Amino acid sequence: MGNGTENREQWGSRLGFIMAAAGSAVGLGNIWRFPYITGVNGGAAFVLVYFAIVFTIGISVMLAEFVIGRNAGLNAVGAFQKIKGGAWPVVGWMGVIAGFMILSFYGVIAGWTIAYMIKSVSGLMTLAAAGKAGDAFGAFVTNPVQVIAYQVVFMAITIWIVYKGVGEGIEKYCKIMMPALFVILLILIVRSVTLPGASKGLEFYLRPDFSKLTGASIFAALGQGFFSLSLGMGCMITYGSYLNKKEILPSAAVTVTFLDTMVAFLAGFAIFPAVFAFGIEPGAGPGLTFVTLPNVFAKMPGGMIFSFLFFLLLFFAALTSSVSLLEVCVAYFKDQMGWSRTKASWLLGGVITALGVPSAISLGGNLKIAGKDFLDVMDWGSSNFLLPLGGIFISLFVGWVWLDGAKAEATNEGKHPFSWMTAWIWICRVVAPVAIAWIFVKGLKW
Ligand code: PFF
Repeated sequence: MGNGTENREQWGSRLGFIMAAAGSAVGLGNIWRFPYITGVNGGAAFVLVYFAIVFTIGISVMLAEFVIGRNAGLNAVGAFQKIKGGAWPVVGWMGVIAGFMILSFYGVIAGWTIAYMIKSVSGLMTLAAAGKAGDAFGAFVTNPVQVIAYQVVFMAITIWIVYKGVGEGIEKYCKIMMPALFVILLILIVRSVTLPGASKGLEFYLRPDFSKLTGASIFAALGQGFFSLSLGMGCMITYGSYLNKKEILPSAAVTVTFLDTMVAFLAGFAIFPAVFAFGIEPGAGPGLTFVTLPNVFAKMPGGMIFSFLFFLLLFFAALTSSVSLLEVCVAYFKDQMGWSRTKASWLLGGVITALGVPSAISLGGNLKIAGKDFLDVMDWGSSNFLLPLGGIFISLFVGWVWLDGAKAEATNEGKHPFSWMTAWIWICRVVAPVAIAWIFVKGLKW
């Protein structure tokens, strides 16, 4: 069994690491889920709750993951084993399982973004103008052959990047795709908010309505926060394990959390003003992205280009996240089982693609568990169950079990004192575990 720490791959630069970690965080979750959840949960009131959760609990758990990962220089399971042993590696195990589960359905939806880039320039606008965007989407997702074909293409690209390695693959491509994503987002925002009637969309998105802020919306904010920041499953442990000892971890956690939250918040400005400017009812979830938006683009001058750009944006967002999900699994098999990167990437990527097939088929409506689509079950089970549970244990580990080690690692052995240390420790000790557990128990009952 290799212990993986000799000759371990490393990020080439601080910027490269930040782009990769922000790339993991900024994903489908930011662009199609956050704006919609916000719109229906009380607008600005929800944004406040979300920010409060993310900038206390989220940022602290992210720092905890960086600290664990860099200290051990190992994957999620190996890191807990090396630092403490006992039952702790189980937390890493849950993370690897969550990686398999999330990537299996994530690859399916990400495949749709490729299909829709192509459709944008080959007839989608005409169909949407004739009021057929909904039918076209329905026909597409219920055709397993097409859905699986695009999923396979997307997964092949993901696998190829991970197979190229940390520096030559993940870092290199995130450094291209993340700035591109940001530029595209800005173009779409400018287009959207300058349409006549855009302000009605801003009203839907942000008008504070505290009556809509229920316990369930707080649960939604927490689940969304964990999923969006890629927390609770060892992804940031894995990415942290490729960092050198000089990097300053607290500021990295602040930057990544800030970038992720900003993109999520801004995505709403690209979407809702345009939707309302054309008097279209916003749909939910996938419907909003794949039906409502093509309808909107079809009504815009140059809509074909904006539609293509939007799906390209989603594709970049999805790809920089999917590589991180696969890397969690690859790093585990590489470090702990001594597999080569080539074997781990292609074999695990292949298994995950196969695991995604039931999700792909479930959209035809025939594969349900307790009345829910298989894809929804995987999504729900991972984001509302495995990730928060992982978050509780990661916080407790840093706050109680390995406190001195964590403090030393977070300050680079005291060389970079960190003024929020006391706050961080108490969030990890009490605030995060209690808040997550409380919201979690309540949430499961609602
Ligand atoms: N953060 C990604 C998103 O918002 O779409 C999803 C994700 C990636 C979750 C990586 C977990 C993870 F480890």
